[in-house]
Amino acid sequence: MSTFDLFDADADPSATEPLVLEPGASVLRGFALPKVDALHRDLDAVIAAAPLRHLVTPGGKTMSVAMTNCGALGWVSDRSGYRYTGRDPLSDRPWPAMPASFRALAVRAASRAGFDGFAPDACLVNRYVPGARLTLHQDRDERQMGQPIVSVSLGLPAVFLWGGAQRGDRTRRVPLVHGDVVVWGGPARLRFHGVMPLAEGRHPFMGACRINLTFRCAA
Ligand code: SIN
Ligand code: FE2
Repeated sequence: MSTFDLFDADADPSATEPLVLEPGASVLRGFALPKVDALHRDLDAVIAAAPLRHLVTPGGKTMSVAMTNCGALGWVSDRSGYRYTGRDPLSDRPWPAMPASFRALAVRAASRAGFDGFAPDACLVNRYVPGARLTLHQDRDERQMGQPIVSVSLGLPAVFLWGGAQRGDRTRRVPLVHGDVVVWGGPARLRFHGVMPLAEGRHPFMGACRINLTFRCAA
């Protein structure tokens, strides 16, 4: 890479070369940075319409991450299992629509990572406060395994765990900061992944939390 390329990448994060974790999986450093003001504003509206809540796993544990959704479908968990629903079980109303700013960013990020034609119908919003974590899991409740997952990080930094095809496979620790986007699909679509317990801190823009937006094509 020439000095000129480096300079360009600084000026426009979407020009940065993806960091490839493995075929089908990459990290786009700072990709969301130019759009964070719009994302933040639209996020507030989503959360006002469908509040963050701590879901219960089928095993009866309350999750440390607080969640809500926007888009035609939303991911939920309760004692009867994991699934996508068209309505928020708290209000029995449809989930808030996916803001145009969210969709546009997700489609552009997917394309940058090599997945043209991404058509997300679900966006899971995860809020981590210090200590909250997400244990290793696969995203496999979606019907469209041909479509990737696009995951946008905002607020406090986190350590993303990138695993293999089996739960017990070695994991790689991938630090993620405000504005980073991770995309995985194709041969990497069913990789185990998770998030280590969030460290204490205060982000100038988002306060004492991390927000993750995960886009999927679920229907
Ligand atoms: C997820 O696996 O749904 C979220 C990942 C993250 O918070 O980075
Ligand atoms: Fe996930």
